[in-house]
Amino acid sequence: MRVIAIDGPAGAGKSTIAKALAARLELDYLDTGAQYRAVTFAAIHRGIEPDEDEVVARLAKDVDLDVSERGVFVDGIDATLEIRGPEVTRAVSVVAANPGVRAEMRRRQREWAGVHGGGVIEGRDIGSVVFPEAVLKLYLTASPETRAQRRHKEVSDLKYEEVAAAIAERDARDQGREHAPLRQDDGATVIDTTDRSVDDIVDEIMGMLP
Ligand code: DC
Repeated sequence: MRVIAIDGPAGAGKSTIAKALAARLELDYLDTGAQYRAVTFAAIHRGIEPDEDEVVARLAKDVDLDVSERGVFVDGIDATLEIRGPEVTRAVSVVAANPGVRAEMRRRQREWAGVHGGGVIEGRDIGSVVFPEAVLKLYLTASPETRAQRRHKEVSDLKYEEVAAAIAERDARDQGREHAPLRQDDGATVIDTTDRSVDDIVDEIMGMLP
């Protein structure tokens, strides 16, 4: 099974690079952040508070999640746009800190890789926890200003300063949590995507593949 793990903070360019790399390699692509967002959406939709750990962990097991490049469907509802909205974005790092939710997402991610014969998988703990045996582990970064600018372009209804503050807060929570925090795995190669083109980065990664 050939897994390429791409981790890093918000706005580092993970999705863009992971999709382009998957296309070049003709591998499937999995956005694990979208899975955490989908569970968060399901909780909000059912009127469950994101910090009710036991209830949310049970929900993570029961909910029907379909996360693919076609979109994100939660119990059959198209949540592709809403999982990127401010309500889900605000609550997702609380849900992602829940150990029961993480265990279930890990199980789903390994199952996905088994069914798809590997793939390009992006997240926060993919190389460090979920697929320690990945053939290649990358840790993408970019300057805080670049990361905030990229997110600001995506969510046009917020001010740049608000986006920058929200990213800093979410990074701190993702890095500071007890279970599978965002960190650079020892075996991961760091790539700074600030001021670099997608093609240039994908070329570099292609050259690293065993
Ligand atoms: O990549 P993203 O912004 O869509 O991720 C949403 C949240 O999910 C983010 O706050 C961190 C969390 N996450 C995680 O804890 N583990 C992963 N493998 C992927 C995302």
